[in-house]
Amino acid sequence: MTPTVTPFFHRPTGTWTYVVADAAARVAAVIDPVLDFDWRSARTGTASADALLAHLAAQGLALEWILETHAHADHVSGAPYLKARAGGRIAIGEGIRAVQATFKRVFGLGPEFQPDGRQFDRLFADGDVLRVGGLEGRVIATPGHTSDSVSYLFGDALFVGDTVFMPDGGTARCDFPGGDAAELYRSVQRLYDLPAATRVFVCHDYAPGGREVAFETTVAAQREANIHLRATTSEAEFVALRRARDATLDVPNLIIPAVQLNIRAGELPPPEADGVRYLKVPLDVLGRPLAPASR
Ligand SMILES: [Fe+2]
Repeated sequence: MTPTVTPFFHRPTGTWTYVVADAAARVAAVIDPVLDFDWRSARTGTASADALLAHLAAQGLALEWILETHAHADHVSGAPYLKARAGGRIAIGEGIRAVQATFKRVFGLGPEFQPDGRQFDRLFADGDVLRVGGLEGRVIATPGHTSDSVSYLFGDALFVGDTVFMPDGGTARCDFPGGDAAELYRSVQRLYDLPAATRVFVCHDYAPGGREVAFETTVAAQREANIHLRATTSEAEFVALRRARDATLDVPNLIIPAVQLNIRAGELPPPEADGVRYLKVPLDVLGRPLAPASR
């Protein structure tokens, strides 16, 4: 069966969220929903998630699954907000446990945070199958960008998270804790082995060269034209290119709030005695030491 795919773009973070529906059965999954977040004021907002809810309501779609492709470092997940209003189960790859253990240390989280995946309703292993009405979704573990990264294949529609971007955008960075360029190479080979006409839906687009934002390509187009990883690119070539590029990249703007919340399946931390919820900001832990100031 061919799913109905509706994309939603979150401009501040360049994120694509997808509603994948069995329109006849009136059920849907949402992949990678976003909670609006302004880091300067540390305010959350729900306009983007509300647009998803309005779409589900207008189409009469029941929400069965809220699927994360990984614990994102660049945007906060809107999963719990959607679940509270529309239902559905929140799921992610089972590699989330390793990501949780790593970032529990990074953020100095206490014993109230258990790095065992319990914050999610379901942890997927490679090859697991999920149902959305008459649609069958297959989980393909695609670690490399992060150790919990998975892709979801519904019919001919493949949701790749941060493995590959549009062909002119290349691939995702592999320098986060648990990331590994050689592993990403092998994950992408598995995706490139899918039928050439498979539709590929990316999780981000930064519109390189000032073109229009884009979200959909094919396995054939990636194999032929991905600027980092074509069918003919060797693992050694890719790893060298990826490492060189990663060494130049800054820490993502929202990594501190995004990762801290997303390893809790997007739940905000519990309020403290004053009723306010707080994040922690580890000093001199993330990124590279600052260069000497120039005069
Ligand atoms: Fe990511």
